[in-house]
Amino acid sequence: MQIQRNGPGARLLLILVFFVLSFSQSLYLVCAQPESMGPGGPVVLIVGSGISGLAAAEKLHKHGFQNIKILEATGRTGGRIWTHSFAKGLVELGAQWIHGPSPENPVFQLSSQFGLLGPGALLEENQKIDVAGHPSSIPVVYSSSGKQISPDVFMSIVDSYTSWLDKARNFSNSDCDPDASVGSFIQQEIVHSSQEWDKALIGFNMALLKGLLNRECCVSGTHSMDHVALCPFGEYTMFPGLDCTLPKGFESLVDHIKAQLPNGSVLLNKEVKTVHWNGSFQDNDSHVYPVQVHCEDGSTFVADHVIVTVPLGFLKKRTMDFLSPPLPQSKIQAIKNLGFGTNNKILLEFEKPFWGPNCSFIQLVWEGDSLAEPKKDLKQNWMKKLPIFVVLGPPEQLGHVLCGFIAGEESEFMETLTDKEVLSTMTTLLRQFTGNPELPPPVSILRTKWYSQSYTGGSYSYVAVGSSGTDIEILAEPLPTDKDALTPLQVLFGGEATERNFYSTTHGALMSGRREAQRLISRYPVLEASLSKAKL
Ligand SMILES: Cc1cc2nc3c(=O)[nH]c(=O)nc-3n(C[C@H](O)[C@H](O)[C@H](O)COP(=O)(O)OP(=O)(O)OC[C@H]3O[C@@H](n4cnc5c(N)ncnc54)[C@H](O)[C@@H]3O)c2cc1C
Ligand SMILES: *[C@@H]1O[C@H](CO)[C@@H](O)[C@H](O)[C@H]1NC(C)=O
Ligand SMILES: *[C@@H]1O[C@H](CO)[C@@H](O)[C@H](O)[C@H]1NC(C)=O
Ligand SMILES: *[C@@H]1O[C@H](CO)[C@@H](O)[C@H](O)[C@H]1NC(C)=O
Ligand SMILES: *[C@@H]1O[C@H](CO)[C@@H](O)[C@H](O)[C@H]1NC(C)=O
Ligand SMILES: *[C@@H]1O[C@H](CO)[C@@H](O)[C@H](O)[C@H]1NC(C)=O
Repeated sequence: MQIQRNGPGARLLLILVFFVLSFSQSLYLVCAQPESMGPGGPVVLIVGSGISGLAAAEKLHKHGFQNIKILEATGRTGGRIWTHSFAKGLVELGAQWIHGPSPENPVFQLSSQFGLLGPGALLEENQKIDVAGHPSSIPVVYSSSGKQISPDVFMSIVDSYTSWLDKARNFSNSDCDPDASVGSFIQQEIVHSSQEWDKALIGFNMALLKGLLNRECCVSGTHSMDHVALCPFGEYTMFPGLDCTLPKGFESLVDHIKAQLPNGSVLLNKEVKTVHWNGSFQDNDSHVYPVQVHCEDGSTFVADHVIVTVPLGFLKKRTMDFLSPPLPQSKIQAIKNLGFGTNNKILLEFEKPFWGPNCSFIQLVWEGDSLAEPKKDLKQNWMKKLPIFVVLGPPEQLGHVLCGFIAGEESEFMETLTDKEVLSTMTTLLRQFTGNPELPPPVSILRTKWYSQSYTGGSYSYVAVGSSGTDIEILAEPLPTDKDALTPLQVLFGGEATERNFYSTTHGALMSGRREAQRLISRYPVLEASLSKAKL
């Protein structure tokens, strides 16, 4: 309980704070310090050890908070950053690229500070390249009739498509129909532009565009671009820089952040069942705490503050009972409104590559495919949603590995199949597209099942039709919601889905963790002050 109490020490602290910090908030908040707060500061629990939870812990720790525990449901840290061994090296089951690796990107900053970047990423010229999310390399394009399509034909359609996507990012809520989707907007542009196409090419171009839209579904983590809201689409912000990977795996970044925390900060296999707040919970140290966390294994933890960083997909499943008292109606609505879909990877290892040394990805075009919704018979048709295989490398270190991407309901269906079934389907598919019925099957397969991961429930968030950036801000608001600066914060919310301009990324997740840490830090100027003093 943070009650105003002015003990004799308070005046002294006040004076100290005056010298160390600016006036803003401090005076008032120092008075709100709990008197029984130990030297380690308030007790903070963090739910989830993804990059957002770890970044929050690291920042709090650096600012003098010593009573921090991270509760993680699974047996590992990193969440949706998950490096796994495959073929002769390492692959990423979750985040793969630093999107926009340039000095403004905090994931780039940290990776560079820890010495985790390869030589290419460190080149200043690469950091300045502004691809605005468009892949810059030229693919090998195959059609379902087993023909290779000239990259020029493909790239001319890609150019039009890219310009429509740029246009879609150019709306704001004032000049846009709130019910419009990115998908419907692009379809309008396609219809408009198809009037100028050679009649004989219309069918083929449509099939090509369908492949590009399916690829976009992977980028947005959605079943259909018709589900992605048009008006706020441009709020998603991209840093410049040519996307890069971390040679020792994305998880090496997580491990470096974790290493800055005291040993034992992370408790694994601790699934949080309910966060009880707005209460008075006594520990055996006679202090009374407003929050108590109940875990699935029966253990409980009291806290002054809890930072919840669980994925939106988990919150969607547990909206009504993850907190007690339950979330306020505005947050329940925001959780419902925002989108959280599935994007999975199918990793295939080949003994020998059937692609050339300069090929960076293979694009598939299903001839006869139209812009209409795909057929519902998922068993027959799921693989038609897979638009692209990215060539992973380098082959000297990894071997010959393709990474297929597939999003939406078809992707969720794929999770229910066995490895053997998926491998056999992929072999058939690649034989069909390369026109080589003898193509040797992959020697091994590894795929992700992000939808079935019970603590994630999908891949990442997007702003769905019917929601807006405001929902993201509402999701990020701490509890209690009254804006009285005297009310101590109890439950705070981080995670990828709470960053209005950077959702669905590792840097967005990292920023959200730091943002919530800062929200607490600014409420405890005394800690900051004592830390600054200690440093003098
Ligand atoms: C397939 C895929 C590809 C991606 N590619 C990229 C990419 O190339 N570049 C990029 O920047 N981003 C990418 N992302 C997104 C990026 O991985 C995420 O945005 C980011 O890692 C999310 O971090 P987070 O801390 O918010 O959530 P998470 O990493 O999901 O962490 C949340 C943690 O909470 C835990 N948890 C859940 N429920 C409970 C509970 N009840 N009790 C205790 N713990 C709980 C979970 O187990 C998890 O560890 C990708 C994601 C996926 C799935
Ligand atoms: C975006 O809108 C502005 C003005 O509204 C316009 O000048 C610009 O050309 C548009 N850009 C694109 C890519 O459509
Ligand atoms: C934490 O544990 C690791 C290995 O388990 C050890 O190397 C390290 O010194 C420990 N750090 C502290 C601060 O105790
Ligand atoms: C919090 O507790 C107070 C006092 O018991 C009560 O009046 C208030 O309604 C509670 N708030 C919520 C959100 O349950
Ligand atoms: C409270 O008591 C339990 C056992 O009853 C003990 O394990 C725990 O360390 C105690 N906590 C504090 C803060 O003293
Ligand atoms: C691959 O790219 C390199 C450098 O860009 C070039 O020198 C080489 O000729 C290319 N090889 C093929 C087979 O296209």
